[in-house]
Order: sequence, then C-alpha cells, then structure tokens
Amino acid sequence: METLQKKIEEASSLEELEKIRVELFGKKGILSAEFAKLKDIPGPEKKVFAEGLNKTKVLLQDSFDKKLAVLKSIALEKQLKAESIDVSLYSNLREKGALHPVAQTMDKIIDYFVSLNFSVETGPMSEDDFHNFEALNLPKYHPARDMQDTFYFADGMLLRTHTSPTQIRTMLKEKPPIRMIAPGAVFRRDYDLTHTPMFHQVEGLVVEEKGKVSFANLKAILTDFLHHMFGDVDIRFRPSFFPFTEPSAEVDISCIFCKSNGCRVCSHTGWLEVLGSGVVDPNVFKAVGYDNVSGYAFGLGVERFAMLMHEIPDLRSLFEGDIRLLEQFR
Ligand code: PHE
Repeated sequence: METLQKKIEEASSLEELEKIRVELFGKKGILSAEFAKLKDIPGPEKKVFAEGLNKTKVLLQDSFDKKLAVLKSIALEKQLKAESIDVSLYSNLREKGALHPVAQTMDKIIDYFVSLNFSVETGPMSEDDFHNFEALNLPKYHPARDMQDTFYFADGMLLRTHTSPTQIRTMLKEKPPIRMIAPGAVFRRDYDLTHTPMFHQVEGLVVEEKGKVSFANLKAILTDFLHHMFGDVDIRFRPSFFPFTEPSAEVDISCIFCKSNGCRVCSHTGWLEVLGSGVVDPNVFKAVGYDNVSGYAFGLGVERFAMLMHEIPDLRSLFEGDIRLLEQFR
C-alpha cells in the first residue's frame, strides 16, 4: 500500500500517472485482483478484508486525484506558455494597397497625352534661375515672380515653382518638332485649403515649324482633354497673362458641383479654373535658340484635378496619410 502511494506521488507526468491508474484501478488492475480474492475468503474474515480493501482503495484514489490535479495544472501552465500570443509580431495578413489618388489622377492625365504621341519628359526639382525663370521670359525683378515664391538654397538654386523649366531643358536638348508633357512635383511658398508647399503639375508643349500650329490647336486638344477628364462639361478660355506665352488663356470648366448654378466651390461664378495655357512667347524660343517655329503650351495642377474629380474639400488632406481618406481610392 505504501509503495503504491509512493509510486503515485512520484509520477512525473500525466502519461506516467495514467499508466499507474490502469495498473491500479483498471479492470485487470491490482485492486480488481484483490477484490476478486473476496469470493474465496470465508464469512467473518471476508468482512474485515473487504473493509480494509475499501479503505485502501479510497486512500489510493485520494492520492491519485490530488496528483492528477497537480500534474494537470503543470501541463496547463506549460501549454499556456507555449501558446501565448506575441502581439508585437507582424501578421502575415497584408491589406491590399493601392495607388495614391494623386498618382491615379496623374496616370489618367499621362495616358491621355501618351495616346496622342506626346513624349514624357522629366527634369530636376532643384533648378537654377535660368531654367525656372530667365529662359521663360521672367527676368529678375519681373513682378510675376512674386506669384511663384519658393524655397531657395544658399548657392542660388531653388525648388522649381513649375514644370515649365522642363520645356526649356527639352528644347535645349532636342530639335523641333516637339510634342511633350512633363509631369512632376513643384514647390511654392503656399499653404491653405487649396495649396500645399509641394504639389504636382503636368506641363505640355508642342513646337512645330512656323505656322503649323496655332491657338486653335491648343483649344481643340485642351477641350478634348478636359472632356476626357471631367465628362460632359462646358469649357471656357479666358484671357490671362503668363510671361512665357502670348496670347495666354486660363481655362475653366463649368462647375461640376452645382451644374453652374453657383456654389461655394466655384465662388458662385459657375466656373472652375483648371489650367493655364497659351501660344509660346517668341522670347522663350529665342532663349533656347529656336528659329522659325510656332508652339503652344499648357500647365495644370494634378491635386486640383484630383480634388475636383473626387470632391475632396481640403487639398492638404491628400498629404496627411489618413487611411480613411486613402482607402476610398482602392
Ligand atoms: N507654368 C504655369 C504655372 O505654373 C502654367 C502654364 C504652363 C501656363 C504653360 C501657360 C503655359 O502657373
């Protein structure tokens, strides 16, 4: 009896204890064998033997139950430790990403012009005064420079205020005819509902032999382009001024929010300004050494297009990285 109890107490695992249970309490176990002896024991002794046996059984059962509880709790603790969740671990489940709305809009614009055989040109974001201003007929102290105040480096370089310097770089590098767009980031000292210090433009430039292109071609291509982007809208060319084009026009579309009835977005004018354009000023061609050519150019703000196409009220929200805004463009 003592040895049996000791055996139970010394069991080091649930498996071992289970073996002991079968050995002791099983059908063919030690206790069953003892109880089987009862039938051969005569009357009075039988009672004493049976009582002793029952007591032993209860004691052993008791030890067994206690040991079982201990081993079970050890096993549980072990299991919990093994299965604990490390919340700092990365999950393998990744959410599907998508292009940023500005990139999506940019792609749609580029696709249109590429389909018309325009080449896509790029230029540096840090520019010199010549490419950003001088060659574009914006001499030093020209008042129009005020509208394009930007960030200057100590060595006189600056963050380009528009994509127009890429026109200059392309013309200096290549011979006419030219049919190009220049998408990219530009910078200005602005920050409000409709301006951020960095934004994107797409520039367009067409240069042909003198007399081959005119304002009429500019008007036709921009009209078709704006219908492609905004659907069935009215388009208005409004006289304007840019130092690098003459004549110049700003282009408006009829307000897509109020159908030209007048609302806050269009400042109750019924029109939304969407781009700048014009016939290339002869001084620009002079600056790049082009002779006997005519051309037209245009420039637009990609964020402004994205805002209008998706009814985004604050342009700055495009750069705040708020997932609630961005996931609407998946
Ligand atoms: N560069 C002008 C701007 O940033 C836009 C423009 C480009 C206007 C080409 C006319 C022709 O405001």
